[in-house]
Amino acid sequence: MRKKSIELLNKSIAEEMTALNQYMVFFHFHCDDQDLPMLSALFKKVAIEEMMHVENLADRILFLKGDIIMDPSSKVQSITDVKGMLKFAINGEEEAVRDYNLFANECSANADSVSKTLFENLVVDEERHYSLFDSEMEKLEKFGNQYLALQSIEGSKNLGQA
Ligand SMILES: [Fe+2]
Ligand SMILES: [Fe+2]
Repeated sequence: MRKKSIELLNKSIAEEMTALNQYMVFFHFHCDDQDLPMLSALFKKVAIEEMMHVENLADRILFLKGDIIMDPSSKVQSITDVKGMLKFAINGEEEAVRDYNLFANECSANADSVSKTLFENLVVDEERHYSLFDSEMEKLEKFGNQYLALQSIEGSKNLGQA
C-alpha cells in the first residue's frame, strides 16, 4: 500500500511543480509585462494554491515514511500570449482532475483512505481552477481585444487609487 501511494504522491508533486513554475512565470513576467493585472492576480492566487498542494502531498509522503522528490515533470514552456497561457492552464487543470480521480480510486483499492481523501480534496480544487481559467477563456473569446483593454484600464484605476 505504502509504496504505490508514495509513487502516486510523488508523481502528483511533479505535476503540481510544473503548474506552479509555469503559473509563476505567467504572472511575474508575461501578465505584468503585458499590463494584465486581473489575469496576473488569478495566476498568482492559483499558483499559491498549487504550492499548498505540494505541501499537502509532501506531508503525506513523510507520514508514509517515503522520500519526497521535488522535481517538476516538465520544464517551463515559453508561452507569452494570453490565449496560450489560458490554454496551458485549462489543459493542465483538466489533466489534474482526471489523474487525481484515478489516483483516489487506486488508493481506495489499496486501502489507503487518507491518501484517497487527499486526492479527492485536490480534485475539488483543480475543478475550481479549471472553471476559473475556462471562464477567462470564454471572456477572451467573447470580447477579444476589449478583454485585454479592460484589464489594462483596471490596472490604471488601481494605480490611481494607490
Ligand atoms: Fe494542484
Ligand atoms: Fe490547479
